[in-house]
Amino acid sequence: MSALLETKGLQLAFGGVVAADNIDFALQRGERLAVIGQNGAGKTTFINICTGFLKPTAGQVFFNGVDVTHQLPRHIVRLGLGRSFQLPQLFLDHTVRQCLEIAAAGRSGKLSFFKALADSVDGREVDDTLALVGLQHRAHEPALALPEGQRKLLDIAMALMLRPQLLIMDEPTSGVASEDKMALMDTVMQALTERQVTSWFVEHDIDIVNRYATRVAAWIAGKVAADGPPAEVLSNPQIQREVLGTH
Ligand SMILES: Nc1ncnc2c1ncn2[C@@H]1O[C@H](COP(=O)(O)OP(=O)(O)O)[C@@H](O)[C@H]1O
Ligand SMILES: [Mg+2]
Repeated sequence: MSALLETKGLQLAFGGVVAADNIDFALQRGERLAVIGQNGAGKTTFINICTGFLKPTAGQVFFNGVDVTHQLPRHIVRLGLGRSFQLPQLFLDHTVRQCLEIAAAGRSGKLSFFKALADSVDGREVDDTLALVGLQHRAHEPALALPEGQRKLLDIAMALMLRPQLLIMDEPTSGVASEDKMALMDTVMQALTERQVTSWFVEHDIDIVNRYATRVAAWIAGKVAADGPPAEVLSNPQIQREVLGTH
């Protein structure tokens, strides 16, 4: 069976900066991948290429064996490749529940002008997803009222309404107080396990990486410098020196 996601020879430069340097990468179903790397290493660029937000100058992206390199982000999402953002992309004036309804309506791409939004989506799926991330008590509050950690959960709940097979999360714990990060990741990873979603998250906190990842890929200057089981990558001297700054 083919990889869930595979890239071949991805290349992209911004001016003189090579942000993606001939990247060959494959992710299998069921993996929990942590991506580590210094700021500017190219982690977000790689995500943006895989999800259609940036077009590479060379190379290809395959999702479930389908070449999605030149597809639009909204088409790629509908194939089952979801993402969340470092800064959650919410509808801040809407309630938490409405945010999920809007996300669900986006799945079909058919938002009817004449039909109330709430009528066009499955209310039970909205409730189940809110409960899955522990936001059921805040369903009727505006998204604006949520603290950062719950905004992150809302962003992920919205991504789940699109029924992804793979969810890519760019720094899901950034901006969250360090004492709240583990609880946030516990909720997120439990939700993804329950929905059988393969996951990939960018993370700087090595305790979190160790706790949740089944595989770690370390980015240095637009390249995958090390890729393998967490214990192996995190004990690699080059990664300790250039990524973790512990050696
Ligand atoms: N849209 C852009 N325009 C110009 N340069 C960019 C753009 N996006 C990223 N870069 C540059 O590409 C490199 C990789 O950035 P990025 O992928 O955001 O790194 P990371 O997510 O690992 O911090 C950096 O040098 C960054 O400044
Ligand atoms: Mg980034």
